[in-house]
Amino acid sequence: MFDEYGIPRGAERDGAGLPALHHFVYCSRASDGVDDAEVGRIVESAQRLNHARGITGVLVFGSGVFFQWIEGPAAPIQTLIASLYSDPRHYDVVSLDQSEEERERLYPSWDMERVEADDIRIVLQDALESSENESNRAALTRILKQLDSGPLHSLG
Ligand SMILES: Cc1cc2nc3c(=O)[nH]c(=O)nc-3n(C[C@H](O)[C@H](O)[C@H](O)COP(=O)(O)O)c2cc1C
Repeated sequence: MFDEYGIPRGAERDGAGLPALHHFVYCSRASDGVDDAEVGRIVESAQRLNHARGITGVLVFGSGVFFQWIEGPAAPIQTLIASLYSDPRHYDVVSLDQSEEERERLYPSWDMERVEADDIRIVLQDALESSENESNRAALTRILKQLDSGPLHSLG
């Protein structure tokens, strides 16, 4: 009923005094050898860990590219962000959005849900068009180029 931070699950949905919710959105490229089965294992362990930490979200994997939305209390989200940046199963991690607001969760019942994305290219193109950060733009351009070249297509 309570997660390890003492926050009752679903407390933010009762409408009275929404707690601050941190969210982080990024995209990255899967490392060599990270296939569908490995992504399945990542999601399985993420669901277990996220449940204990009050984190929810969505993971999209397509054409060798990850796109993930995570949301939850600030401290566990910051810890997860640090783990994600040092995880060798992906690279070229581009932070697309990060903020803290008092609001309801977008994915209250998904400890981590894998979503198929035929349209991941559109999501990345939109991010490129709205990003003003030079290194983000450079990484997004690299990801899009790789998507358009042959090798990653066969992974999707
Ligand atoms: C694309 C991707 C998404 C991930 N998503 C999560 C997640 O939602 N939650 C999680 O706990 N770990 C996730 N991980 C695994 C973390 O990077 C890390 O291995 C895990 O949190 C354990 O971290 P620790 O060894 O520092 O405790 C993900 C890894 C990858 C490559």
